[in-house]
Amino acid sequence: MRLVRLIANLGYGSRKDVAWMFREGRITDPDGEVLYADDKVEHAQVRIDGEPLDPPTGLVLMMNKPLGVTCSRKDQGRVVYDLLPPRYRVRDPALSTVGRLDRETSGLLLFTDDGALLHRIISPRAEVAKIYEATLAQDLRGDEQALFASGSLMLESETTPLLPAKLDVLAPRRARLCITEGRYHQVRRMFAATGNHVETLQRTAVGGLQLDGLQAGEWRQLDAGDVARIFEPASL
Ligand code: URA
Repeated sequence: MRLVRLIANLGYGSRKDVAWMFREGRITDPDGEVLYADDKVEHAQVRIDGEPLDPPTGLVLMMNKPLGVTCSRKDQGRVVYDLLPPRYRVRDPALSTVGRLDRETSGLLLFTDDGALLHRIISPRAEVAKIYEATLAQDLRGDEQALFASGSLMLESETTPLLPAKLDVLAPRRARLCITEGRYHQVRRMFAATGNHVETLQRTAVGGLQLDGLQAGEWRQLDAGDVARIFEPASL
C-alpha cells in the first residue's frame, strides 16, 4: 500500500491532506530523512512530526468507561470516542466497541478494528466471561444465585432462556455477576426479573483481563498478551 494511503487510512487526514504533509517534509524516517508518498517503508519506520505512526490494523484498546457517555458513534451527547484521539474515529477499517455498555454503566470496554477478533470475543460459543459488580435498590432475596445458575431464566420478550450465570453475594445489596452472553441490558433485566433494581453497575473484567488500576476515562492499547488474557478464565 502506498504510504500516502496507509497514513490517510490511519485517520491523519484525507489523501490530499497527507500529500501536503509529505510536501511539508513532516513525514520522515527515524533519522529525520524526509520520506515521499511512493516510498516503500515499513510502518515502524515512519515518523510524523517526529512521532511514531499510530498502530496498524489489528488495534485493540481497553478503556475504563466513565458514567454518562454512550458507546454510540453519533449520539448527540458525550460518546466514548470523544475520549480517544480524534484520528481514531476516522480510521479505516473502523475502530468499534466490542459490544456495548449502557450510558450509566462504567468499567471495562474493549475496542478493536479487527472484525474477526470482535466476533470471537462476543460469540456466546467462546464463553468469554463478563464480570459486573452491581449495587441494588433492595436486599437480595436469597434465591437469585440458584435462579441465575439454572439456565432457565427467561427474560421478558426473549425466546430463549439465559445461559447459566454465576452470582456472588458481596453484601445484602451488592453482588458480583459473571455472564457469558451480552443480551440487551442483560444485567439490569436479570435483577429486574427478581423484582430488584440495579442502582450502579460496573464491568470489572472481560475474561482474565481486568481494569488493573485504569482510572475512569483512561484507556490503553492492548498487546498480544493482554488479548490472550481475554480468552482465559476470569480470576475473581
Ligand atoms: N448489562 C446491562 O444491563 N448493562 C450493561 O451496560 C451491560 C450489561
